[in-house]
Amino acid sequence: MAEPGKFITFEGPDGSGKSTQVRLLAERLKAQCITVHCTREPGGTATGEAIRNILQHDAVDEALGARTELLLFAASRAQLMNFKILPALERGDWIICDRFIDSTMAYQGYGRGLPLDTLNSINHFAIGGRKPDVTLLLDLDVGRAFQRMAPLFNSGEESPDRFEREDREFHEKVRAGYLELADGEPDRFRVVDADRLANVVADEIWNIIKATCIKDHAAS
Ligand code: TYD
Repeated sequence: MAEPGKFITFEGPDGSGKSTQVRLLAERLKAQCITVHCTREPGGTATGEAIRNILQHDAVDEALGARTELLLFAASRAQLMNFKILPALERGDWIICDRFIDSTMAYQGYGRGLPLDTLNSINHFAIGGRKPDVTLLLDLDVGRAFQRMAPLFNSGEESPDRFEREDREFHEKVRAGYLELADGEPDRFRVVDADRLANVVADEIWNIIKATCIKDHAAS
């Protein structure tokens, strides 16, 4: 049987460069002949992408309650875990996921104020206990994150989703929450300063992955 693959997640605010870093890490892993799949939350499966549409862009014409929002994220996660992530890991492939359980803790828990122990149980139920091997938290000051997103919104290139329309106080709580989560699970989390050039951040991430996941692999 193949050795199980590694499961890496990226977390952090919008504007922290997660999608760029997901792509750069995948390129480096592929260059080491590692089979890696990139996915994202909410989404990653047909059902998950349909849920994403409801969550992000008010696809239904009514307000979403905080509990409804939470359960939709959890439903998308359960589908992704069951049909994409676990089968890939069992084959020995690697997974990089843009957001995962910690987004729920940070946004629905610390941001919206839902009870953390309930969120933990729902997360556990959705994923069946298989946590990521490494979680890279791309940490960025809230003001800097806003600055990075503003040109995209002002030019009309992107329209802000439900979370990007939240105020500064909400995003400060999310950031503090993320840092608390990282403090609580130092073996899984690595906090990376995202306020640097993308290639500098990518080099640091590569060093972390070599040290934590590749170890004896002939990585350079
Ligand atoms: P993301 O895919 O990063 O947005 P974008 O398409 O703008 O890059 O994230 C979607 C939003 O959903 C993000 O603002 C955080 C939020 N979110 C939660 O609130 N809880 C969750 O469990 C997840 C996965 C995301």
